[in-house]
Amino acid sequence: MKIFLDTANLAQIKQWIPTGLVDGVTTNPSLLSKEGANPKDVLLEICDLVSGPVSIEVVEKTPDAVYKQAHEIAKLAQNVVVKIPFTQEYLPTINKLTEEGIPLNITLIFSALQALIAAKLNVAMISPFIGRLDDIGITGIELIDEIIELKDTYEFDAQIIAASIRSVDHFKEAALSEADIITLPPAILEKSIKHPLTDKGIELFDRDWEKVGKKSLL
Ligand code: G3P
Repeated sequence: MKIFLDTANLAQIKQWIPTGLVDGVTTNPSLLSKEGANPKDVLLEICDLVSGPVSIEVVEKTPDAVYKQAHEIAKLAQNVVVKIPFTQEYLPTINKLTEEGIPLNITLIFSALQALIAAKLNVAMISPFIGRLDDIGITGIELIDEIIELKDTYEFDAQIIAASIRSVDHFKEAALSEADIITLPPAILEKSIKHPLTDKGIELFDRDWEKVGKKSLL
């Protein structure tokens, strides 16, 4: 399982890279708009900081403009994956781009059939959104289970990115569902590492060690 950071925040990316946990980064227009800075500068810096794949989403609307922008995005850096929303009007564009060898991450996937159809177009990655399904009363994690089952049955190559992760439980459930990649907001990664019993255990060890006096350990 790979861990991507779901953020465009440079400070957070810089904070997590030294841990060795960051296999890639996913961005989207909402995450970029939170940062306020010039999007191209932010994206170039992310691509430079991260050695793994960095997903950058198109913002153009017509298929021709999306095609052109996908090529411009792909040229930004070697590790770029172009993110495109899954709609019927973009299918010929997606098909053309994959035939040309542009790595794509197909986003805003909310059904197993959408994922299966995207996989038929030889895309590199597919992003089903867990949290947004939960928001409308559908258990999002079941979508990951279904897609992984289809991936095993049809042996398609696209990597499944569990996205829209809102809680530590989402992270655990996506891992148990054997998602290839889980893209995490940094706050969820941080929460997943912490446990109150670990903190309590450290306090206890510190207290007991003080009882030994000033002796050095070695
Ligand atoms: O990677 C997609 C993710 O950023 C969407 O998350 O919380 O906006 O549904 P959310």
